[in-house]
Amino acid sequence: MDQPLLPVEGITSAAVVVRDHRASMEQFARFFGIADWRVRRFDGNELIDGHVHGDIMHASWISARGSNGRVAFELIQPAGGQSLFERHLHQRGEGMFGVQTAALAPERIDEIAARAAEAGIATLQECRLGGERFVWLDTRSQLGVVTILQGAPGGERVDLGAAAGEGPPLPVQKHYHFGIVCRDRTATKQAYERLYGMDKWIEFKIETDVTLTDTYYYGKPVKHAYDNWVGRRDGFGVELIEMRYGDAVYQEMLDTIGDGPHHVFPTICSPEEFAAAQSFFAANDMPIIQSGRIGGLIDYFYVDTRRKLAGLTLEVVTPLTENWLETMLPGEASYVLMGPDV
Ligand SMILES: [Fe+2]
Repeated sequence: MDQPLLPVEGITSAAVVVRDHRASMEQFARFFGIADWRVRRFDGNELIDGHVHGDIMHASWISARGSNGRVAFELIQPAGGQSLFERHLHQRGEGMFGVQTAALAPERIDEIAARAAEAGIATLQECRLGGERFVWLDTRSQLGVVTILQGAPGGERVDLGAAAGEGPPLPVQKHYHFGIVCRDRTATKQAYERLYGMDKWIEFKIETDVTLTDTYYYGKPVKHAYDNWVGRRDGFGVELIEMRYGDAVYQEMLDTIGDGPHHVFPTICSPEEFAAAQSFFAANDMPIIQSGRIGGLIDYFYVDTRRKLAGLTLEVVTPLTENWLETMLPGEASYVLMGPDV
């Protein structure tokens, strides 16, 4: 098989459009324990060869990239003109829009963008800044997210160790996966197979009282059903979710902003650790908006962190037994969920 078009190297990063990069950096520092940030302005004479949707771009923005060595985020604040970020903020509000799965040299970015064009994938936005190359591929209809091709973080170093404070309210292990709400999960799975060479998958058919019990939505008991493909290539995991029926956070998203990236999943912790975080959640207006129990093996929760974390919803899993993983996902299936060692 040919090399897949898109590389997976290093820690995957979620890219999030924000209204106020400084305020969001502090929230992400506090919540995920990310002290180390690089902030760069895309504007002025340094920003050249900018195009958006094929037209010459007149726009500026601020990018803040942070990592704690386990999870990484890029927070992007539009700062004037028509960029894809400004359009995202206008159409969908704050939220995750893209994924970066490698730090690439400029020549490699050009090579991937050229191969993408041959495969019918348009460049949504591109520019150069300070000798570096930046391309945002329009993989939204195929993958549910924009694909970001850029190098390692640059710009001014900002230390938010003070904002990170006494550490995150929950353990932060890795981006186990990004949850993406799809209209057709199998068509999206095929696109991940084609573009990323993502070849390891597990399927979940989730239905209250069939494969799941104790299902709650905004604090009320609910009966709902949805189907998932969870896929992995190396350190990059995705969950592709397609609604079947009932009230659920995915249906809420389809009814409000449409399909696309829905949640991040950085934490598997004990019920006691999750209970200990409840006072932090209450003090920060972060209610649990959906939960369920699978086979007496795990509870899962969505915490509504959208108001503090720029539109992001958080998934947390709390195992209920010692052997939950090998019981629920024997053999290679456990690797698909868990990925390489933390
Ligand atoms: Fe998930």
